[in-house]
Amino acid sequence: MSNCDIGLLGLGTMGAALALNIADNGFDIAVFNRTTQVTRDFAAQAGSLAVRITPTEDLESFVAALKTPRAIILMVPAGAVVDKQIAALRPLLDDDDMIIDAGNANFHDTNRRAKEAGDKPFLGIGVSGGEDGARHGPSIMGGGPKEAWDRVAPILTKIAAEHEGTPCATWMGAEGAGHFVKAVHNGIEYADMQMIAEVYGLMRDGMAMSYPEISEVFARWNDGALSSYLIEISAKVAAATDTGTGKPLLSVIMDAAGQKGTGRWTAVEAQHLAAPVPAIEAAVGARNVSARKDLRVEGEKRFGAAPKALDGALDLDQLESALIAGKVLCYAQGFHMIARASDDFGWALPLPEVARVWRAGCIIRSVMLDDMATALTEAPDQNLMMSDHFSTLLADNHMALRQVVAQAALHGLAVPALSSGLAYFDAMRTARGTADMIQGQRDYFGRHGFERMDRDGTDFHGPWAD
Ligand code: 6PG
Repeated sequence: MSNCDIGLLGLGTMGAALALNIADNGFDIAVFNRTTQVTRDFAAQAGSLAVRITPTEDLESFVAALKTPRAIILMVPAGAVVDKQIAALRPLLDDDDMIIDAGNANFHDTNRRAKEAGDKPFLGIGVSGGEDGARHGPSIMGGGPKEAWDRVAPILTKIAAEHEGTPCATWMGAEGAGHFVKAVHNGIEYADMQMIAEVYGLMRDGMAMSYPEISEVFARWNDGALSSYLIEISAKVAAATDTGTGKPLLSVIMDAAGQKGTGRWTAVEAQHLAAPVPAIEAAVGARNVSARKDLRVEGEKRFGAAPKALDGALDLDQLESALIAGKVLCYAQGFHMIARASDDFGWALPLPEVARVWRAGCIIRSVMLDDMATALTEAPDQNLMMSDHFSTLLADNHMALRQVVAQAALHGLAVPALSSGLAYFDAMRTARGTADMIQGQRDYFGRHGFERMDRDGTDFHGPWAD
């Protein structure tokens, strides 16, 4: 029976959750997983939703279960597996059947796959929100031909999260635009998480606060300007107790962060675009540093532990303010990078829509995104830190960020993302910088030429006689 509205291939954690979400929203869905037992278990556990789910055990029956023209979501690990599945599916499909890659693909791969698809509809969609988001409403960033997006938009907007009645699912542009926006989302995610971790470190090591106390602070901040999913879950993470030992869970978790790579892609791509995202780069770097536990242990033995105890040099209000300023700066950097990519790739990425689509469902959702959407609607080309709302927020909070970074440095507490945020802020408010020296050096050793501020022209040289 070819009666399913859509198919989903790949029943891992995210795929299974997304399939249930689709069924829950009244769509009939065919599912397939390479390991048949996974499909059987999934169908057996679908409960009342089972009536909407058609489990299939080979690709032919999977394809045959779909209404034409077909639409198939791939939820498989990013990389070669996606190419393999496309190659296996395409011979079974008609030319107007659509493949939708909903994994965390590198947008360069999505660009390539879009070209390889030719006239056959192919979408790359960034899906954010973790397992819970996938099950109950993710944020969806679409990329590919607009007509292809429009064809599946009724399903994707229905299963997406909503912010005050507006679905968080939007077409961002052609080819890999959706996956690019998702990558920047993850870059911001890394920076936001890193800044929260740095402030957690200041409370734990600088202020000798207990885990429950730290949890309470995060919970309180979640009622204010910092209200966001990441602050909310940080309160919960800090409050958790390890069932085995009865100790605070954080106290037994290894301090070495993992990463699947999307934040790193953002930092690498930012370098290609010459888009300044130092807070995101610092966050990626900090994950790499965290992973070198062996070296850090050796370093502490060699140099001795830093003094750390802040002895009242900072208070909690300053930490909250510093985090507010840091958060604005890291989002400003992310949006600026999207603007650069929009120009470079000719995508016309809709910045206000990006802010809107991140307001619910995704990992970086926060009350600030509502104001960012407003600021970007009023002035889409403006760096967020220059908007009335966020420049006021920065004016009110950057002194606290400065105090926090300064005291952290004096006491040997590493705060790389907050420091980078502050350096970015200071650089961005400095009309006369120091790159005149770099230009002088470049011209000295390589006759690279420089511009002058007092004359027109681009190719002046120094009198470097020796
Ligand atoms: C999301 C997340 C998600 C990401 C994980 C793991 O928006 O739901 O960004 O897509 O894959 O958070 O990312 P790392 O392993 O790189 O931390």
